[in-house]
Amino acid sequence: MAIVDEIRELLASALADIAAAADTAALDAVRVAVVGKSGTLTGYLRSMGQVPADERAEVGKAVNAAREEVEAALEARKAVLASAELEAQIASDALDITLPGRAQQVGTRHLISRITDEIAEIFLGLGYTVASGTEVETDYYNFEALNTPADHPARGLQDTFYVVDRSGDVSAVRGESDVLLRTQTSGVQAHVMETQEPPIYIIAPGKVYRRDVADPSHLPQFNQVEGLVVDKGITFGDLKGTLEYFVRQMFGEDRRTRLRPHFFPFTEPSAEADISCGICGGVGCRFCKGTGWVEVLGCGMVDPNVFAYADIDPEVYSGFAFGMGVERIACLKYNVPDLRMLLEGDMRFLRQF
Ligand code: DAH
Repeated sequence: MAIVDEIRELLASALADIAAAADTAALDAVRVAVVGKSGTLTGYLRSMGQVPADERAEVGKAVNAAREEVEAALEARKAVLASAELEAQIASDALDITLPGRAQQVGTRHLISRITDEIAEIFLGLGYTVASGTEVETDYYNFEALNTPADHPARGLQDTFYVVDRSGDVSAVRGESDVLLRTQTSGVQAHVMETQEPPIYIIAPGKVYRRDVADPSHLPQFNQVEGLVVDKGITFGDLKGTLEYFVRQMFGEDRRTRLRPHFFPFTEPSAEADISCGICGGVGCRFCKGTGWVEVLGCGMVDPNVFAYADIDPEVYSGFAFGMGVERIACLKYNVPDLRMLLEGDMRFLRQF
């Protein structure tokens, strides 16, 4: 067979292989076999010397033409295969955006924090400022400066947790430590009166602790908001008016307030404030134990002995104080029958507010 015919056949089979190459790797194998360093077509170019002189021009032309055609075909096929492979890769790497996402749980503010802020806002609106104290307090500020000396029977109602130093001092364990977890926010009163000159209009929100077992109306740790006013000419009427305003803002215009005489060591006279029952409207039901009233807070006129601890002259100044439990206010506002429900962390319950 003439050399040019061999070349024509080789060209035909190379073009067929190129057309049949399924991917770029297979195509490259064809390229190496035909036009690579030791490829079949390259072999003809290398052995031109052995071709008889009169055929050389013709054979040379045929080989070059075949090589150009093969290279053009390789180029064209490569473009087709590469773009198909790119398409396939994009398709397989793509995110499946049809899969439903995992919903993020969105939290809400806890009811206790919300009610604390609501109480604060009512009093801020009246010109009060917020004072804060520490949860670890000394016996002096928690009891003594509030006219509750060591042998006072009122201490019995507010047993608490004492802080013992790390050396494990046993005298402290026996109840002789004077560092404790505060049982009431009333101690902030004593701090504020020591450091500020009257007029004083403050509220003090914060956590308090008692050695109580949790039941529907008691918690060993809860939140209070304390209020204190010291100014010239403050009367019991100012206390009553302030509390009535607070109750209407917090619970609604239709709620009535009454004051019942009571005892607190740091106020004289002292009272407990009740509001008309939100469930029966004051007629009497199980929630208010048939009385039509529910207790909301303690209050009174600051005892002159408390002023004396802070060097405030009771002949010049008078004042009132009050203290309320935030959990209690929250439960009364939303008719929650058990304080413990606020602390259980049940989202079905907490999300309602
Ligand atoms: N500290 C009292 C308690 O925890 C509440 C209280 C009553 C605070 C009367 C006062 C007050 O400031 O005047 O039971």
